[in-house]
Amino acid sequence: AKIKAFRQTLLTWYDQNGRDLPWRRNQEPYHILISEIMLQQTQVQTVIPYYHNFLQHFPTVQALAAAPEEELLQVWSGLGYYSRARHLQQAAQQIVQDYGGVWPQTAAGLADLSGVGPYTAGAIASISFKEAVPAVDGNAFRVFARLLEIDLDIAKPQTRSIFAAIIQQIIDPDRPGDFNQAIMDLGASYLTAKNSDPAHSPVRDFDASWQAGTYEDYPVKTKK
Ligand code: ADE
Repeated sequence: AKIKAFRQTLLTWYDQNGRDLPWRRNQEPYHILISEIMLQQTQVQTVIPYYHNFLQHFPTVQALAAAPEEELLQVWSGLGYYSRARHLQQAAQQIVQDYGGVWPQTAAGLADLSGVGPYTAGAIASISFKEAVPAVDGNAFRVFARLLEIDLDIAKPQTRSIFAAIIQQIIDPDRPGDFNQAIMDLGASYLTAKNSDPAHSPVRDFDASWQAGTYEDYPVKTKK
């Protein structure tokens, strides 16, 4: 009952207060892939104009697969980390050439695409294909570590799969993409890394570290 109440509180807040971002206007896997790769190392406000421009140049996965490298890198320029652009094109070529234009529809299948790690695979699978899988990025680590007072070291590689297993139990099976993006918005608003405001968070009744006054201790992260 507590998990259902949490989902409902979170998604009601998201429906009313979620950010209106361009990649939330449809669920095309091609659009979600581009946005998620851009957002890996670049802030939302910086990504928005690049996202629009990229789709204008390469409107389809076929167009990206066939793009001359020079044009690809020119459209990417300013975002940095150019290996992201090369991987993105390789992923597009896999879709077109290896899968005949048909996207894998699960996180496990999507993780075979170039440059797509567990986080990105979970994001696309949940947002585009409604698979009930978590998308564990820094926001999800921080939000769930605080809500549940999880003191596992997020610098350790094994920790991700433990968080994924926990979130797997909590994610809304009917709206997994919205659930994951609501966690991102919570992590970008009330439960930020610095200057967070858990007292006013929509899920403060479910926030163990807020109630215990220990939220500044989470997430636990040792220096590598
Ligand atoms: N950061 C990474 N993915 C995001 C998304 N889909 N919405 C907002 N911020 C994000």
